Amino acid sequence: MSLNKPVSETAAVDAEAEGMARAFAQRFGRPPARFYRAPGRVNVIGEHTDYNQGWVMPAAIDLAVRIAIAPRSDRRLRLASAQFEAIASFDFDGGPVPDSDGGVAAVPRWARSLAGVARLLEAGQGPLRGADVFIDSQIPVGAGLSSSAALDVGFGYALAAVNGITVDPTALALLCQRASHEFGGTRCGIMDFYIACHGRAGQVVELDTRTLDARWWPWPGQLSLVACDTGRSHDNATSGYNQRRAECEAAVVRLQQWLPQLRALRDLNAADLDRYAPQLDPTLAARCRHVVSENARVAAAAAALAAGDFVRLGELVDASHRSLRDDYQVSCRELDLMVEICRRQPGVYGARMMGGGFGGCALALAAPAAVPELRRRVMREYPHATALVPEVWACTPAAGVGAWAIGESATQDGVDAGTTL
Ligand code: GLA
Repeated sequence: MSLNKPVSETAAVDAEAEGMARAFAQRFGRPPARFYRAPGRVNVIGEHTDYNQGWVMPAAIDLAVRIAIAPRSDRRLRLASAQFEAIASFDFDGGPVPDSDGGVAAVPRWARSLAGVARLLEAGQGPLRGADVFIDSQIPVGAGLSSSAALDVGFGYALAAVNGITVDPTALALLCQRASHEFGGTRCGIMDFYIACHGRAGQVVELDTRTLDARWWPWPGQLSLVACDTGRSHDNATSGYNQRRAECEAAVVRLQQWLPQLRALRDLNAADLDRYAPQLDPTLAARCRHVVSENARVAAAAAALAAGDFVRLGELVDASHRSLRDDYQVSCRELDLMVEICRRQPGVYGARMMGGGFGGCALALAAPAAVPELRRRVMREYPHATALVPEVWACTPAAGVGAWAIGESATQDGVDAGTTL
C-alpha cells in the first residue's frame, strides 16, 4: 500500500500493481519481489542540442514505465513485457540462453539496450545476480516521449536495487546513455536519461548538458504541457537522428580550421556562425544555425519563465519549431500539421515538434482551460487530414525513477545496504 497518497489514487495504484503481479506470476510462476517506475519526458525547448553539448529544458512526466522484479539465485536475466511478445533471456556469463520452449531466443530488439545496461552495470560493480523482470509501459513507444530511456533507467535502477546497489542518478543516466550507444543503435544525448533519473514533481530543469549543471524552475500551474501524438511512429535508431549528429560533428571539424578551440557546436557563437557559414556546405551551415539559435532560445525561455511571460515563452517555442523544420529538417508533414492545428486553438501560447523528430509528438503550451477544446480539435481535424489516429495527453512534471506501489515502503528503507554506483 502506497503512503502519502489520496486513498483513491492509492487504490488505483494497488490495483495496477496487483495486475502486474499477476502478469509476472503467469510468465515466471512466482510473485515479484518489488516494483519500480521510471518516467517519460517532455522537453519544453532545447531540441537536438544535447549531443552538441548545449542546453535543454525537459520535465519528467506522469506517464511511466513500471517494472516488477524478483532476484534469482543464478546469473540469468529473463525479461518479459506487456508490450512485446518475446521473452528475452540471457545470461551474464554468456550470450542468449535457451528459452523455456527449448529454442534459442536471440535478444529481441526492444531488450538490446537492457542487455547493455545489465552488462555495463556488472562491468562497474562486479558479479551481479540475475532477475526475472516484467515491464509494463504507459508511455507509448515511438511517440517521442522517451519510452526507451525510461525503460533503460527503470531496469538499471531495479537491477541495481535487487543487487543491493545504491544508484547515483547521474552515474545511472550516463551508464544508460552508453548502453544505448553501444547496444541500442542510437547515438543519443544525455537529456532523456538525465531527466528520467532526476525528474522533480512540478519542475522543469534548465540543463547544461556539457557540465550537467542544472537549474530547476517551478512549472507554472497556469500552463499545461500538452503532448499531441501524431500517430506516426518514429525510431531514433533508424531515422535521420544519427545522421544529424554526424553532420554536427562534421561541422565542428570544418569550423576548427578557423576556430581551433571549438569542441562542440555549443562553443559556436552567433557572430562566428555568420562569419564562417558562407564557407560551409549549406546543409551543415543550416544545422549550425539551428543549434546556435536553439541554445539561445533555451536561455531566453528560462528568462521568460522566470518573468511569468507565457506569450514570450510561446513565441520561442514556435521559433524552435520553425528552426527544427527548416534548418534542422527533422520535422515531417504530420508534425507540421499537428503544430498548425495546435496554433489555431485559442489559449495555446506556442507549439513545436518534440524529441528526435520524423514522427512522434508535438508539444503545445496551453492555458489549462483551453486543453479540452484543444483535444477535441486535434481529434477532429488531424485524422481528417492524415488518416492517422492522434492522442493527446496533458502532462504534469513528475519525479524521476524510484520505487513504486506495494514495494515502495520496503525499498524506501533501503533493502540491502550496498555499494554506491
Ligand atoms: C532524442 C534523444 C535526445 C535528444 C532528442 C532531441 O530524444 O534521445 O538525447 O537528442 O532526441 O533533442
